[in-house]
Amino acid sequence: RKTENQLLVIFGASGDLTARKLVPALYKLYKDKHLPEHFAVLGVARSFMTDEEFRKRVALESKYLDDSEEFIATFSEKLFYEDLHKKYDVDYRELNERIQDLNTTYQCDNNIIFYLSTPPSLFEAIAKNLTAKGLNDERLGWKRLIVEKPFGYSLETAKSLNDGLHRYFKESQIYRIDHYLGKETVQNILVTRFANSIFEPLWNRDYIHHVEITNAESGGVESRGGYYDKSGALRDMFQSHLLQLVALIVMEPPLSANPEEIRNEKMKALKSLRLMTDPKVLEENTIRGQYLASEIEGEKVKGYREEVDVDPDSTTETYAAVKFYVDNWRWADVPFYVRTAKRMPTKVTEVVIHFKSPHHQIFKNSDMNKDNKLIIRIQPDEGILVKFGVKVPGQGFAVERGNLDFYYESLGDESHIMEAYERLLLDAMQGDATLYARADEVEAAWRFTDPILDHWKKGDAKIYGYSAGVWGPQHADELIEGKSMWRNPCEN
Ligand code: BG6
Repeated sequence: RKTENQLLVIFGASGDLTARKLVPALYKLYKDKHLPEHFAVLGVARSFMTDEEFRKRVALESKYLDDSEEFIATFSEKLFYEDLHKKYDVDYRELNERIQDLNTTYQCDNNIIFYLSTPPSLFEAIAKNLTAKGLNDERLGWKRLIVEKPFGYSLETAKSLNDGLHRYFKESQIYRIDHYLGKETVQNILVTRFANSIFEPLWNRDYIHHVEITNAESGGVESRGGYYDKSGALRDMFQSHLLQLVALIVMEPPLSANPEEIRNEKMKALKSLRLMTDPKVLEENTIRGQYLASEIEGEKVKGYREEVDVDPDSTTETYAAVKFYVDNWRWADVPFYVRTAKRMPTKVTEVVIHFKSPHHQIFKNSDMNKDNKLIIRIQPDEGILVKFGVKVPGQGFAVERGNLDFYYESLGDESHIMEAYERLLLDAMQGDATLYARADEVEAAWRFTDPILDHWKKGDAKIYGYSAGVWGPQHADELIEGKSMWRNPCEN
């Protein structure tokens, strides 16, 4: 696809995301010659700053400083800043003048992306004020709106955010970012499943015993206690990133790789997750935990309730594990186990497809932990691993586990893995919404998550403590049925 000339307007540009993710991603795209000939970025926020002050604020971190100063300067000169006199909900007359001026000077052809990196409570007001200045009008050039998470706090709030945006922008103009969809290995799930003939025939209830997804972070909430305490692991990770992963694992083969075909199938997948509403089912199938003060490698770490901006009596979960089923032909009765947590022993995200044991065992020393597994390593060490039984050399038929693996790293430097924001920004610049969540998908994910949150809100729902640096509350081990257990990455 071609990247047309365009202007990128970032609302909330004084925030962390612009300096940490967006500007470095734009720079990388610029360096790799993905940006169009005519291009400019306008940062917008409440406080006053000159263009020069903005450029300094978002100056690239040292990892890019191998490039010559002149080269970096040619990029920096494309960055501009406009303040909103302390409020987002004001008349955008001056902002519009600046936009028009940059559009003409830098020949952006009236193509504009508005990136809303502000709290969601401001989305509708911004969309409304842009519309009042005709900035949603596509007659002279396209207009796109990218919105950052969190997209809603519940089904109801997500619906009202969608309704608010749809009052001013068409769904086809809206790009809801979920940075997990920008990860190379997340996209590789589609390729693994639909560009090969060896996995898909087995991708169903006849061959798969259960599916496990682990998202672990070794860090705590760091400086984000204020946000996190109102959110928790289920809203922060599960409803968005992890249910997107689930959708890619569960979905039926799309007719083509066209964005709407893919998103239709993902939507159907999310709709087929069995809603849990019975309190007993919720009690048995969901586990939440909170990290306690502990020592990791000799270093003391705070418990969640002692973190800055966290309520000392908080019942917000930093660990969430959910077992659920998918009610459709392909997945009937296959349990899915998904967990996400902070302060785990390591940072890792992986999907594990556990295959069933052979129907008839002729080698007596096989056990379930030796069954076939397909491990999709989202991060780090991005790649794919198939675990299968091989014969131990020598007499008899002892079976041990062998690995067939592929790591992206092995492709060498030339095959640079694009950072999620690089990939996603470039897609939006080219009008490709495949890796962006559609309104109905987001709502379906909330529809599934809401009853769990409601259940946890009730005073008697348990919350388990776990020491920082372990794989969560011990109780979570009981979630998995039978002889199987969580695969703790890097351990087994
Ligand atoms: C963000 C969450 O969306 O994803 C954070 O708000 C979390 O709490 C982060 O740490 C994880 O992203 P990644 O790419 O580091 O796995």
